[in-house]
Amino acid sequence: MVDLRGAAAFLKERLGGDPFPVALVLGSGLGGLIDAVEHPLSRAVSFDEVEGFPASGFAGHSGRWVGGMLEGRRVLVQAGRYHLYEGHPLDVVCAPVRLAAALGARTLVLTNASGGIRPGFAPGTLMLLENHLDLMTRSALDYAPGGMPSAAGLWDDRLLGIASSCAAELGIPLERGVYAGMRGPSYETPAEIRMLSRLGADVVGMSTVPEAIAARELGLHCLGLSLVTNHAAGIVSAPLAHADVIEAGKKAAPALGRLLRAIVRSLPE
Ligand code: HPA
Repeated sequence: MVDLRGAAAFLKERLGGDPFPVALVLGSGLGGLIDAVEHPLSRAVSFDEVEGFPASGFAGHSGRWVGGMLEGRRVLVQAGRYHLYEGHPLDVVCAPVRLAAALGARTLVLTNASGGIRPGFAPGTLMLLENHLDLMTRSALDYAPGGMPSAAGLWDDRLLGIASSCAAELGIPLERGVYAGMRGPSYETPAEIRMLSRLGADVVGMSTVPEAIAARELGLHCLGLSLVTNHAAGIVSAPLAHADVIEAGKKAAPALGRLLRAIVRSLPE
């Protein structure tokens, strides 16, 4: 079990005690926006500096937080995250969200990289999560033992509206659809993608769902934004590689950055 109280106390000491009403999680290849944070309150704090938090990420690049200002709002920005496919248990995967809540977050923006399933969802497509398929965890009871939480309304309607308006104003095409969360670690087979398509999935990824469920349990308002970095398996014939995911993330980063900043600016106080 992660010691959340100790972790929150440690981060408060590093980032100052004032609350961060907005938390932003930047997914694979999307971490660049962390450098846009103004007046950072300390150098970045990596996950593994916090007692009980393991390192995470490829190539020794651990997830990290920066607290500061973005578009005039106090934000806690997290680049990188824990994944079930790295072998982390659910409580570790969800710990950063619980930590953000302990630091005052009321709004959580979760971004991720995904494979495009819906016809026309080519690499570079941006999609708001209107809904998800939880194919990663067995039961919401894994999060809130004893409760019977509802995932209805998890993806906040008001935030969806704000995000769509921001995209329209900026002239950035922004789709809406269903995110299928898979455990990984391997990319799906073409048969699995056909299955997911029939189940109603528009994109597929390996994150976000557990964090959103934990956030919901804590009463946070969630917005999910997915960048399609590749065609899902079998949609086109090219094989998938993690490097393509990172590359597509880099390419789309400027538009995604502008959109995220506009969303942060437009959030209700
Ligand atoms: N499948 C699962 N996760 C992913 C993909 C994919 O095609 N692309 C980026 N994350």
